[in-house]
Amino acid sequence: MSTPYSRITGTGSYLPPRRVTNDDLARELAGRGIETSDQWIVERTGIRARHFAEPDVTSSELALHASRHALEAAGRSASDVDLIIVATSTPDMVFPSSASILQHKLGVAGCPAFDVQAVCSGFIYALTVADAMIRTGTARCALVVGAEVFSRILDFSDRTTCVLFGDGAGAVVLEASDTPGILASDIHADGSHVGILCTPGHVSGGQVTGTPLLHMDGQAVFKLAVRVLEDAARTVLKKAGKTDADIDWLIPHQANIRIMQGTARKLKLPMDKLVVTVHEHGNTSAASIPLALDAAVRDGQVKKGDTVMLEGVGGGFTWGAVLLNM
Ligand code: UT7
Repeated sequence: MSTPYSRITGTGSYLPPRRVTNDDLARELAGRGIETSDQWIVERTGIRARHFAEPDVTSSELALHASRHALEAAGRSASDVDLIIVATSTPDMVFPSSASILQHKLGVAGCPAFDVQAVCSGFIYALTVADAMIRTGTARCALVVGAEVFSRILDFSDRTTCVLFGDGAGAVVLEASDTPGILASDIHADGSHVGILCTPGHVSGGQVTGTPLLHMDGQAVFKLAVRVLEDAARTVLKKAGKTDADIDWLIPHQANIRIMQGTARKLKLPMDKLVVTVHEHGNTSAASIPLALDAAVRDGQVKKGDTVMLEGVGGGFTWGAVLLNM
């Protein structure tokens, strides 16, 4: 049976315990002859620390903890879930999906489970897909997760990228609802920019070929991000029949405080409506938005009934936004 709306009924997140400050990282990189500093990283990005998973901890493991917290917050158990979508660019294996592995770890079977790969926009894509599946009656209770172990694909000889990223997971339970939750979404990709943010390795003939470590042209990504984030925000506001003034909270992908503040300024939002976790999490790619959302819910910033703008941007090039009522 189709339903008019989908709505978030619970959020959860999980960070691996090992917290690495900029000074810790600078010391580690100095041992490799690479110079960086807390001052440079804070000034250019806003990042002060990130979390790194231990070598045997996978995305699905981080996803499991975040999912349990989200299910608990929603008052649901894993057996209530009839759809699992995991947004990740650092899956446990080439295949099967981390969503299938997560399903098994949750102790359930049968419901559809699949990964979405849209890099740092992955959670926006996954939420958009889950919303559409709920509104068409394919699912009623979806677990939507962003989970990453970007530390696995960082090139620790490249100071322009390795200081930016971290590991973590965030999750939401999205359920069929008679009252509006997700108000509008807007997702895009432009594959002509593949080369500016990529991990250009693959498995072929039993070997990894190409470069299996992250490469980014930071300035090119920065310029594109600022432009497309404003466009996506304006589009979802228009689709939902809302204006800038209706936004209670802006939760952008947590990559760089300067991009986030630039977007808030363009939307004429005061900085105290911007949810910021990048200082403590770094850029956790597909996990960053649900991690920030859960942090804001748990510390009492985002409350039931608030109107929240989520925005993602990343490799692909991909971007998008979701406007929702909590
Ligand atoms: O998740 C997807 C979205 N990703 C993003 O949004 C990332 C977007 N890009 C950015 O956030 C920024 O471009 C960066 C943070 C990556 C770089 O900041 P920037 O202000 O664009 O710096 P830059 O690349 O222009 O580098 C400035 C200087 C350079 O030195 P010279 O050429 O001026 O002598 C770099 O070599 O800073 C140097 N530099 C560093 N110095 C100390 C680059 N990385 C570091 C470092 N520590 N880690």
